[in-house]
Amino acid sequence: GLPTKVTIYEVGPRDGLQNEKTSVPTPVKAEFVQRLLQAGLPIVEATSFVHPKWVPQLADAAELMTGLTADLGDRARELPVLVPNERGLDRAVELGMRHVAVFASATETFAEKNLNRTLESQFEMFAPTVARAVAQGMDVRGYVSMCFGDPWEGAVPVDQVVAVGKRLLDLGVGQLSLGDTIGVATAGHVRALVQAFVAAGVPTDRLALHFHDTYGQALTNVHAGLQEGVTTYDASAGGLGGCPYAKSATGNLATEDLVWFLTGLGIEHGVDLAAVVGTSTWMAGQLGRPSPSAVVRALGSA
Ligand code: HMG
Ligand code: MG
Repeated sequence: GLPTKVTIYEVGPRDGLQNEKTSVPTPVKAEFVQRLLQAGLPIVEATSFVHPKWVPQLADAAELMTGLTADLGDRARELPVLVPNERGLDRAVELGMRHVAVFASATETFAEKNLNRTLESQFEMFAPTVARAVAQGMDVRGYVSMCFGDPWEGAVPVDQVVAVGKRLLDLGVGQLSLGDTIGVATAGHVRALVQAFVAAGVPTDRLALHFHDTYGQALTNVHAGLQEGVTTYDASAGGLGGCPYAKSATGNLATEDLVWFLTGLGIEHGVDLAAVVGTSTWMAGQLGRPSPSAVVRALGSA
């Protein structure tokens, strides 16, 4: 049968806002994070300590985390943040952050575009970053991008993704998040990829799935992941998101769509749907455009 309980890993403030054309004021970001926590989301990825020239939308990462720490104390330090390298880790550690995520590419082209590294040399950047974080007792997540298809290279072989994922695990990463960065995954491909990881000795509790909804397949893909026993799913409130270095990436799976779907299956998630919808509707007002989520449109008021 399907798992009885799922963890929703909220990425709206990071994956959602990194791609927004309008610059979102820091206090609005802080309110967004806090509202998501209040809605019962157990994990809210708050921002990225990447190069501010590469992702200017998140250049206020330190200011945001300082403000959130003033409001939330230790709860803010538990929020995961992206760090591409040791410089990013230093910035996160300075603020007392305890959960970080590195992000790798499964393809050569995207490694170059997103990280300014080759597929091989990205690991030289991650190795000391992950080692230092683990040595300090931090929890490290490892994203793998372009796990299904890549806009420049086409379909990505399952074995290539498993090889990248296993190298991250060998470096000391706790959980892998397998990203369908451009939203081209289909259910059969999801099952094949998860099965390949399991066959390579990686249990499903080390895996999370990260879908973008370009072809409207994200929930079907979650269902495929559930059938394979994966219990952590990334989602973004209101379906915000994309990737600034992958032009064809559209929004993430909307948190609301995922919550509605899991509730329908009787799977425990702990999230208050109305509170997330209210948050996304408010955020849509801040951004000046409606949410692409069907559930937000069905349940939202303004
Ligand atoms: P680089 O230019 O190769 O960096 O960028 P470098 O190591 O050569 O350093 C150059 C300068 O940048 C140095 O300064 C560094 O200190 C500085 P200088 O000595 O010249 O004055 N620098 C930094 N400053 C602040 N924070 C840092 C940092 N690192 C170096 N962390 C780098 C390499 C990785 C930094 C750059 O390519 C980068 O920031 N990339 C981030 C791209 C990004 O954020 N993409 C979106 C996230 S991934 C995603 O969305 C996919 C995901 O959602 C899953 C999915 O959907 O698949 C996760
Ligand atoms: Mg993403």
